[in-house]
Amino acid sequence: MAYEAQPPDYETTSLAIIFIHGTGGDREDWRHQLDGLAKAATCVALELPGHGASEPPGENSVSSFARWVVDFVEALGLHKVMLVGCSLGSAIVQWIALERPAWLKAIGLVGAGARLRVLPLFLEGLKNDADLALRTLGQYCLSPGAPESLLMTMGEKYLKTSAELIYNDLSACNEFDVMTRIREIAFPTWILVGEDDRLTPVKYAQYLHREIPGSFLTVAPQAGHLAMLEKPEEFNTSLTEFLSRSGLLDG
Ligand code: COA
Repeated sequence: MAYEAQPPDYETTSLAIIFIHGTGGDREDWRHQLDGLAKAATCVALELPGHGASEPPGENSVSSFARWVVDFVEALGLHKVMLVGCSLGSAIVQWIALERPAWLKAIGLVGAGARLRVLPLFLEGLKNDADLALRTLGQYCLSPGAPESLLMTMGEKYLKTSAELIYNDLSACNEFDVMTRIREIAFPTWILVGEDDRLTPVKYAQYLHREIPGSFLTVAPQAGHLAMLEKPEEFNTSLTEFLSRSGLLDG
């Protein structure tokens, strides 16, 4: 699996935040976090199998992706880890949190839901007219007020990605459902959602917040599903505040 760590020469015993992208994503989805949070913690953006520079094939279930992530963290020998995932990544994080590995200290759920049913517009669309479905996905990932340059970047990125890979990612989301188990999560939990998120509406984040005791919820104004790209300052400030309040920055 390919990844980027900032700073590159990190201590395995200090806090590491592992960022896990969503459908069709890669490490660039976390560029502002790799650049902006590396002083607070070791920041690692991994690329799931089949994504970015990681070797194909991908997977088509959250549990299979989760096994890769657990093996990845253990191969790096990290002892104190916060997993932060967006969308499909958030499903992977919830799955691992329910398994409670000893190295996991906190989780972050971004553009998340305990169930992630997918619109037929995407699943059927990818089979019938992949270009249209991929273009639409690019638009749905961002808020209506997103800068034109970001809309173009995301649109081009999805169009360059294999429709089969995206279909498998979305199928993994569509099958994911831990609605009745989510209250078993016993880790400090940070939740962030864009107020204009069309793929995982604010209601999904509010459900997570209600069910996970002591969780910390931020609704980012004028942001869509990929809030880490659209509102990086607000995103990084909220995450740093969570780390500080949870005592994860000390020692
Ligand atoms: N958290 C809290 N509530 C949820 C939820 C979640 N993760 N997922 C679904 N629900 C709610 C729905 O809002 C709905 O509530 P309502 O009856 O009060 O309206 C109810 O549970 C049933 O929802 P669901 O099983 O999703 O079926 P649906 O037929 O209502 O909707 C979709 C199906 C696909 C239209 C809908 O899930 C959707 O709009 N999804 C977002 C778009 C998308 O494709 N996202 C991609 C996710 S990666």
